[in-house]
Amino acid sequence: MMATPLPALTPLQDTLWLTLCGRALDNRLPRPVLGDRMADEIVRKVGYDYGKLHIPSSSALYIAHRARKLDEIARRFLARHPDAIGLDLGTGLDSRALRVAPPPTAAWHDVDFPEVVAARRRLLPEDARPHDLAADVTDPAWLDGLPTDRPAVIVADGLIAFLSLEEMIALVNRLIGHFPTGEIAFNGYSRFAVWAQKRVAVGRNVVDVSKFPGLDDPREPERWHPKLKLVKEVLMTREPEVAGFPAWLRLMNRLTAPSAALSRKGNVVLHYRF
Ligand SMILES: C[S@@+](CC[C@H](N)C(=O)[O-])C[C@H]1O[C@@H](n2cnc3c(N)ncnc32)[C@H](O)[C@@H]1O
Repeated sequence: MMATPLPALTPLQDTLWLTLCGRALDNRLPRPVLGDRMADEIVRKVGYDYGKLHIPSSSALYIAHRARKLDEIARRFLARHPDAIGLDLGTGLDSRALRVAPPPTAAWHDVDFPEVVAARRRLLPEDARPHDLAADVTDPAWLDGLPTDRPAVIVADGLIAFLSLEEMIALVNRLIGHFPTGEIAFNGYSRFAVWAQKRVAVGRNVVDVSKFPGLDDPREPERWHPKLKLVKEVLMTREPEVAGFPAWLRLMNRLTAPSAALSRKGNVVLHYRF
């Protein structure tokens, strides 16, 4: 069978393969952390050569693990606010709506550049992409079509590395100005992670398009807008799923977990409310 042709994407948009392949590789493990079958299906459908991305098994697990945490945050919010708007910013080819399963009263929007939205329409089934929104999240007008009177849960998985600090602060301000109340969660990048990205094979795939300087203090975003309050800094080394990791990775996590400073340098999900 002929593989479906790859969509034509810019280097920035192309970063979506890293996270998609990470989740696909996790899905192939005997005990996946996330079990994202759709990611696996797309990678197979296009015959993507993930070998060229040099994704170590630890990175695949970390990508899947943080996606799972962001899913949980969205799911919990939607259970409390069934009328909410859900937003996945920089969604790539992710089918988070399938995993989160928003109630029918909620509205789930996946946001990415028009070229990525076109690729989603080609590669994802309709139920995996309830409402695609083609936009650059740094554009001041991109939220204009969305209701202003409903609570919102906003997740961004692998996006903030590609925004400058100023763009990130402006985005957060725009979201808080638009919705009456809600939660924002994203995977964090420490200054160390930004530094290390240049030095490991998997990081070199994204380094040319990365802009974020790194964030070491989870309370720093509270200074971006007075309404923004930290709910939790999720240090992944301390999360229960680590118990299912392979022995060597479990050991590394166990050694790191007692130190917040060390854990913070690795896989982190930052969760805020407003
Ligand atoms: C590393 S990928 C992550 C994709 C997806 N969240 C996932 O976990 O598979 C980063 C994504 O952010 C998108 N992106 C980067 N900057 C963006 C912007 N300014 N506006 C909209 N999307 C953006 C890229 O097109 C890409 O799809």
